[in-house]
Amino acid sequence: MVYKMLLVFCLLCILFLLPEATDSQLVSCYYEFDRHTGSCHGLIGNVTQDECCLSYYYGFRDESGECKSCRKASWSAWSPWSPCSVSCLKGVKQRRRRCDGIGECQDPKSKDKAKTQTQQITVCEDQDCCPEQGGWAEWGEWQPCSATCENGTTVRHRNCSNPAPICGGLCDGQSLEAKPCETKVVCPTHGGWSEWGPWGPCSGTCRKEGSVPPSQQRRRSCTNPPPSSDPAGRPCPGDESESQDCDFLVMCAIDGNWGRWGPLSECSVTCGVGQEFRSRSCDSPAPKYGGRPCVGDSSASEVCKTHKPCPVHGEWEEWGEWGPCDKTTYSKPISCTKKTGSQSRRRVCFRDFDGAPCEGSIVDHRHCYDLTDTKDRPCKKPGQYTEWGEWGFCEPRQGALKRIRERVCVHTLPEFE
Ligand SMILES: *[C@@H]1O[C@H](CO)[C@@H](O)[C@H](O)[C@H]1NC(C)=O
Ligand SMILES: *[C@@H]1O[C@H](CO)[C@@H](O)[C@H](O)[C@H]1NC(C)=O
Ligand SMILES: *[C@@H]1O[C@H](CO)[C@@H](O)[C@H](O)[C@H]1NC(C)=O
Repeated sequence: MVYKMLLVFCLLCILFLLPEATDSQLVSCYYEFDRHTGSCHGLIGNVTQDECCLSYYYGFRDESGECKSCRKASWSAWSPWSPCSVSCLKGVKQRRRRCDGIGECQDPKSKDKAKTQTQQITVCEDQDCCPEQGGWAEWGEWQPCSATCENGTTVRHRNCSNPAPICGGLCDGQSLEAKPCETKVVCPTHGGWSEWGPWGPCSGTCRKEGSVPPSQQRRRSCTNPPPSSDPAGRPCPGDESESQDCDFLVMCAIDGNWGRWGPLSECSVTCGVGQEFRSRSCDSPAPKYGGRPCVGDSSASEVCKTHKPCPVHGEWEEWGEWGPCDKTTYSKPISCTKKTGSQSRRRVCFRDFDGAPCEGSIVDHRHCYDLTDTKDRPCKKPGQYTEWGEWGFCEPRQGALKRIRERVCVHTLPEFE
């Protein structure tokens, strides 16, 4: 029973101790070992050291936590020298190097000591003396106040010279002290401008063509604040007033004015009296921008005399009376007979000064019957009244207002051709 228990225990012991006992301890394996800094980069995972170091350039970390190289052992470069162990007078400084890789760096047979060292120490001296503190001398006088009026500051100095410090030493505390000071002098007040006032009226009501437009002004005063008189402050810089053109005004109206009269034209006639004409234009100047047009006539006439009579073209005077109605081929009288005769009348053409002759005939003929009474025989022929004419106007007639209408008795001669 006891053996059995021991056996089981021992088996457990063996199972438990087995991994410890083997050489194949797990390490963290890295892709790269940095020879300058001795650090590992690029973790791959945990494998045995032999497996990891199948790659010559890999690195690993074992349970010591140190980063190690898979290379054959070799010295790293020396580190920079450490600072000198003291800041003044003689001290020491040191530098180190590592042995990276598997195996030993030192050749135990080598007599050259430099080839086996991991550390070197040497003497150093940054400064051949050590600083010593100085002491302050007395304060100097207070300097004049920094301002020339009202308040400012004043300062005083002291030298670090009692005793002077040695080898770059200092004095403890400030070399300069400041305090406010009063000059008891009032500062002058410099002038400042007020806001601009409003624009004043324009110097004209309209813009004249071809000349400078009217302008307007505005003012400001040097009262914000006014310059002090004692002590004298500076006056305000710049002008108290400024002006600008009134470009917004309308153009001034230009009234029209007549130009000179032109030359007289030729006389309108070649005989008798006529007219000569001349004209002028409303263009000195022409009306513009709503100005009034010129007053008066643009043309004028004068009488011209040719001292020559004009031709009078032929003009018929009134026809004369009809002549007697007779029949030239028939010797007997035809009065009160049914025989037709003829009669004529004449007229006169009046013309003068080469005028054109009258147009038309100077004599007029017509057929006629002679119905005049003769001594022996009255020539009575039937007659007939025409229709009544229109009533005339009312007129006083024989003591009363009357009006008249008329009708005429005319021959009715049916048997005459
Ligand atoms: C790998 O091994 C390191 C020490 O060798 C250990 O600290 C770590 O926990 C292990 N990681 C894994 C994932 O086994
Ligand atoms: C400090 O030393 C300088 C140089 O010696 C000297 O000119 C100056 O007056 C000294 N100042 C005071 C406050 O003693
Ligand atoms: C100047 O200083 C005095 C004293 O400190 C103070 O009463 C006064 O108001 C100051 N004047 C001005 C203008 O700051």
